[in-house]
Amino acid sequence: MASYDVIIIGSGPGGYVCAIRCAQLGLKTACVEGRETLGGTCLNVGCIPSKALLHATEMVHETEENFGKMGIGVAKPKIDWKQMLAYKGETIETNTKGIEFLFKKNKVDWLKGWGSIPAPGKVKVGDDLHEAKHIVIASGSEPSSLPGVEVDEKVVVTSTGALKLGKIPKKMVVIGAGVIGLELGSVYSRLGADVTVVEYLDVVTPGMDGEVQKTFQRILKKQGLSFVMGAAVQKTEATKTKAKVTYKLRKDDSEHVLDADCVLVATGRKPFTDGLGLDALGVALTDRGQVQTDAHWQTTVKGIYAIGDAIAGPMLAHKAEDEGMAVAETLAGQAGHVNYDVIPGVIYTHPEVANVGLTEEQLKDQNRAYKVGKFSFMGNGRAKANHAADGFVKILADKDTDRILGAHIIGPMAGDLIHEICVAMEFGAAAEDLARTCHAHPTYSEAVREAALACGDGAIHS
Ligand code: NAI
Repeated sequence: MASYDVIIIGSGPGGYVCAIRCAQLGLKTACVEGRETLGGTCLNVGCIPSKALLHATEMVHETEENFGKMGIGVAKPKIDWKQMLAYKGETIETNTKGIEFLFKKNKVDWLKGWGSIPAPGKVKVGDDLHEAKHIVIASGSEPSSLPGVEVDEKVVVTSTGALKLGKIPKKMVVIGAGVIGLELGSVYSRLGADVTVVEYLDVVTPGMDGEVQKTFQRILKKQGLSFVMGAAVQKTEATKTKAKVTYKLRKDDSEHVLDADCVLVATGRKPFTDGLGLDALGVALTDRGQVQTDAHWQTTVKGIYAIGDAIAGPMLAHKAEDEGMAVAETLAGQAGHVNYDVIPGVIYTHPEVANVGLTEEQLKDQNRAYKVGKFSFMGNGRAKANHAADGFVKILADKDTDRILGAHIIGPMAGDLIHEICVAMEFGAAAEDLARTCHAHPTYSEAVREAALACGDGAIHS
């Protein structure tokens, strides 16, 4: 039996970051992980591998769409699927090995196996019982199931199976126009699959700014994705190589069937807390199955904390990381803090979509007086030169104080551009602060400044 200050269960972005920060702050730390490699869903079967496939297929798209226009003559790209998967595998490996290195460097013990909490202050991993003053649950999430849809991870797949398909499907049906559906749908569409997205609501990416939703769907349609909106999937029927997807249109209750070689189920994720023994411990869950926590991430049992996808809030790696650092600081006697009002969200399609803060719809619901500064990438010289002028930056600011309340970007490098606005919001900046900051020319970032200018006397290039 070993004794620790902190044992963290789960080594995803929440857990491993928490472990490293605990160790840096002088706490004797261990992290429990049952997978063969560290990094959790994000590094092994989520963010990182999907970004590798998105990057590779974006290159295909770029070659096919824009090379000719720039005077570069190349033959149609030939896809070596096996090699693309190998590249994805190498990307995973270098990242997961990196965490292993950081654990060694920071003297974090990796307790290999699946952990449970038999009693407060105790963590069981395999047959070994360990003691800890503090326990942090960072067990993440898993795909939620859909009634009538049986996942086999070969023909009917979740994001996990979609990252390692045996071959590129000819016809793919994606259930759910959320982040996973649109990112992975884009990957296979760029690889030549005929992709149809079936979505329950009338808009893609629920919760996002309405204007962005419309522009995003238009761009994806232009790229070849098809959409069936307002459609509730009822069931799938699969053989070893094919599947049928039955859906009902909400407007008239009519039933329709789609044929596919592959069905991606992307209808959300749910907290993964199986096997931890939370029930017996008396750790309360919310009615959505999330571990209930207080303002300091402590569960209803003293000394047991929880972070990341297992608790409430957006299921995002960086939100989990921030909570991991804040909990570590709290346990080390500092004031851990997360500003939930400034957590960016990014969809890594092409173009990217990024947002932070409130949407226009939320501002209207709250009866807030606001102004909109919008700038199209059509007015950005760099974007035009790079054939990347589709999309816009939209900044929402308080009508009276000019304080930035939210920002929504669809366009090139949106996932990077958003952070300038995040920093501004953390500093309580006004749109004018961004507008008066000199931005290098020619950069995509100038579009952010122009949107900020549009909150005041007007953008220059529109
Ligand atoms: P999601 O919640 O983003 O979207 C699910 C979609 O499925 C919704 O639009 C919903 O209306 C639709 N849906 C549900 N039931 C349906 C039915 N029966 N028929 C048709 N449509 C139906 O969930 P998603 O895409 O699975 O992602 C899960 C989580 O992972 C999210 O919290 C997301 O934020 C996170 N994630 C984030 C990424 C990023 O930050 N780039 C990448 C991948 C995942």
